[in-house]
Amino acid sequence: MGIVDEVREKFSELFGSDGDIRTYFAPGRVNLIGEHTDYNGGHVFPCALSMGNYAAARKRDDDKVRWFNMTYPDNGVVETSIRDLKPNDNGIWYDYQLGVIWALEEKGYRLPSGYDMVMKADLPAGSGLSASASIEELCAVICRDLFGLDITMVDCALFGQYSENKYNGMNCGIMDQFASAMGKKDHAVFLDTATLEYDYVPLNLKNEKIVIVNSCVKHSLAGSAYNDRRRDCEEALKEIQAVKDVKTLGDLNEEEFEEVKGAISDPVRVRRAHHAVYENQRTIKAVDALKNGDMEAFGKLMKESHISLRDDYEVSCKELDILAEEAWKTEGCIGSRMTGGGFGGCTVSIVKEEALDSFKKTISENYRARSGKTCEIYIADAADGAGRIG
Ligand code: GLA
Repeated sequence: MGIVDEVREKFSELFGSDGDIRTYFAPGRVNLIGEHTDYNGGHVFPCALSMGNYAAARKRDDDKVRWFNMTYPDNGVVETSIRDLKPNDNGIWYDYQLGVIWALEEKGYRLPSGYDMVMKADLPAGSGLSASASIEELCAVICRDLFGLDITMVDCALFGQYSENKYNGMNCGIMDQFASAMGKKDHAVFLDTATLEYDYVPLNLKNEKIVIVNSCVKHSLAGSAYNDRRRDCEEALKEIQAVKDVKTLGDLNEEEFEEVKGAISDPVRVRRAHHAVYENQRTIKAVDALKNGDMEAFGKLMKESHISLRDDYEVSCKELDILAEEAWKTEGCIGSRMTGGGFGGCTVSIVKEEALDSFKKTISENYRARSGKTCEIYIADAADGAGRIG
């Protein structure tokens, strides 16, 4: 049985099969390049995945929600009021959705009632593929469609980010929610996070595949270190602003940064800002390379991105470094880097189609030999963004 049928069947079993039951999907994302640039006014280049969260939902006529997540059946049916929601940092799947309902109300879109819902993921959680943004966007599209809210998909992305920042206490940028809401089949989204201008770039890879390797580790540091990195960059920016009129680190190119970096008093902050500036420039160059069909150049920039995230931004970890190093050594791999926030999760690699099988075998074996752990490998399929599917 397909996952859509599974959520429908479970919905009927728990909440009955009468009335207007609708189905929805919201994807996870993989970022090809442009990491930790989205809160620095830089560019990102993610694509939505065909993996994500599915739901069946039906409006209620009171203020309650009754939600069941087949991915976490032990939570049972979560039943709560949608009024008087209080921000918290518990980070449980339903908190990400209650956060969106809270954010909608804050933004002037008070829901007239709650809804019943059953959901299920085919995306691994905690793997750097934006399972939480996928859950937020799932809720956003359910509310938008069930209650006919007059909001755009970009609003859905923005409200999702707002809820994660203000309700869930995670100071993330806009990339994940934007990719989940706005993704397009067979395209990646080249997004300028300073202006929210975006361009869909076709991923017409003729002989290559985008391969995601999940290290299957998540280090607990992730949330707090993320907020620390963000603060480091904000402080570096302030020091630069004392000598140059810029709005964000993304306003600077490499030469301009070299001229002003002396204004940053702390060497760690110099490295953080160096990453933000150079990574943004790499992202712009990588998109050009892709448009010109120059995959070698794209791959080289991916490698530089990983090295910068490892050494200057310090958000990689042993497992991600092993996966990237092994990929760089493997015949037929054009480029590889960690993807997402870091401290575990996944790498993304571009691999020649004819080398796929040997790539999978070599990476799995060498990862096991060097880390003692088992990785999971998926072929990424760039998909459409969140929406109603039935
Ligand atoms: C997480 C955040 C994003 C982005 C990435 C790093 O996924 O949610 O906003 O900052 O990390 O690029």
